[in-house]
Amino acid sequence: MPFSNVYDDAQRAEAYATLEFPGTYYLAYRDLPAIIDKHVAGREALDFGCGAGRSTRFLKKLGFNAIGLDISTRMIQLAIDADPEGSYRLVDDGDFSAFDQTRFDLILSAFAFDNIPDVARRCELLRRLSRLLNDDGRIILLGSTPDIYTHEWVSFTTKDFPENRRAKGGSQVRIVMKDVTDARPVVDVVWFHEDYMKLFAAAELGLIAHHTPLGRKNEPYHWLVETSIAPWVIYVLAGK
Ligand SMILES: C[S@@+](CC[C@H](N)C(=O)[O-])C[C@H]1O[C@@H](n2cnc3c(N)ncnc32)[C@H](O)[C@@H]1O
Repeated sequence: MPFSNVYDDAQRAEAYATLEFPGTYYLAYRDLPAIIDKHVAGREALDFGCGAGRSTRFLKKLGFNAIGLDISTRMIQLAIDADPEGSYRLVDDGDFSAFDQTRFDLILSAFAFDNIPDVARRCELLRRLSRLLNDDGRIILLGSTPDIYTHEWVSFTTKDFPENRRAKGGSQVRIVMKDVTDARPVVDVVWFHEDYMKLFAAAELGLIAHHTPLGRKNEPYHWLVETSIAPWVIYVLAGK
């Protein structure tokens, strides 16, 4: 399943590796501990699309034995550099054979699906991942909402891409990250809630919970639209 991964680019990977949870990203991770607490039993976790390891380190801090996997050589190297004791695996796209003998209580995908272009690929990846779950295991998929590509945020700007407003599910959209020095637009694939619902049904996954985090007035950020429009969506999924 060859395709071009925007993160398999040294400059982008280095920029991404400097990110922890600034600004709008704070909202992506803020509610995850409570969601995980509520829905996940057990401590074995796989971080699909771990990038430079931010999401894997987050899981480890929550007490998980977490393995990060990614298809980008550069990203995996940066993850290892940041956490030399951690478990990080470079895999070929969709090849989870290294985990044949392992079952996970949690598979987290934080932002990886935002760059995966077509429905068939997404569906196949989710099917393969769900086979790695324990009986009561959960996939938590954290991604961007379509709204993120059409508003101004503490951490992102999209004003130079008015065409994003006309994007249909599965189309490419562009967004610039304000927290990193690499100001080139990231090209993502926009995905609507209805698209996700069809995808989960096709991948034989049941939706257990759906959460869209909003900024709160008492938080240490000068939120722009974050208090009324959610930039992220979090789906909790179980195999059927
Ligand atoms: C936006 S980064 C997110 C990284 C990390 N989860 C985080 O929250 O910081 C998305 C990552 O997903 C990876 N990715 C994209 N498609 C993938 C695939 N098919 N299998 C594994 N990783 C993938 C990319 O290489 C990239 O490192």
